Amino acid sequence: MLKRALGSTGIDVSVLGLGTVKIGRNQQVKYPSGFELPDDKTVIELFELAQSLGINFIDTAPAYGNSEQRLGELLPDRHDWVIVTKVGEIFEGGESRFDFSYDYTVNSVEQSLRKLKRDVLDVVLVHSDGNDMNIINNEPVFDALQILKDRGLIKAYGMSSKTVEGGCWIVENTDVVMATANLEYDDERPVLELAEKLNKGVIIKKGLQSGHADSASGGGGVDAAFRHIFSLPGVSSMIVGTINQKHLQSNVDTINDILIAR
Ligand SMILES: NC(=O)c1ccc[n+]([C@@H]2O[C@H](COP(=O)([O-])OP(=O)(O)OC[C@H]3O[C@@H](n4cnc5c(N)ncnc54)[C@H](OP(=O)(O)O)[C@@H]3O)[C@@H](O)[C@H]2O)c1
Repeated sequence: MLKRALGSTGIDVSVLGLGTVKIGRNQQVKYPSGFELPDDKTVIELFELAQSLGINFIDTAPAYGNSEQRLGELLPDRHDWVIVTKVGEIFEGGESRFDFSYDYTVNSVEQSLRKLKRDVLDVVLVHSDGNDMNIINNEPVFDALQILKDRGLIKAYGMSSKTVEGGCWIVENTDVVMATANLEYDDERPVLELAEKLNKGVIIKKGLQSGHADSASGGGGVDAAFRHIFSLPGVSSMIVGTINQKHLQSNVDTINDILIAR
């Protein structure tokens, strides 16, 4: 599978990354149907398949239940993977809350290092609550991340943003933006264009509309969704969450076909 530079971070990532919400959390999620969390053997097989297909990129977060812990315990060849984790959102007792304070940010990164069994985190993104500019203007989270980067505890940081204004600020002032794009949502295209111009990392989330791409109006299914994402400017990688090996295999085949045909 093709790898691309994650902007100017010096990190190369496979164009398809594996989202891991579904290995850690099955409450308050937006997927078309309910599911059981996969057992350890199933998770290990999924990672082994991903690795054999050339995927080196994984997205997780403290808010994804025990996803980080399971990655730390189950990921084969732990140090060969580029892992994105997040700060800011806490999911407890079936509900999310947000904390963008300095102390919480430092504490959260320390916990992620422990759970993922790493000495350094590759990429840490601020998990936006939707009010990107409020976080940017009024919270110390980015100061904390810069200090952690200066101390060598994280290689790159940015935000999983939800607005164009916030996404553009992130592109101008940090290393990586995670933006939403899919066949039914094109609002954040200016963020991608700016990132391409400034050579910043772009990770696409929700490219399959959280699993609704198959049936969404105007879509041609998953193939059309991938075709669309890889026609957009600036995209380093697209994160797709799956716990289904057949889906993982077919997603890789489809993306390889699209990119090889270029
Ligand atoms: N930072 C944030 O705010 C944020 C928000 C949302 C998501 N994310 C990240 O982005 C990742 C992806 O987002 P997402 O999980 O919301 O949405 P998504 O990637 O758009 O969709 C994932 C869903 O698509 C299904 N799927 C995957 N391949 C398929 C295929 N070939 N055919 C049919 N269905 C398929 C998966 O089901 P199966 O398991 O059955 O394959 C899963 O339910 C997450 O895991 C997470 O890491 C981040």
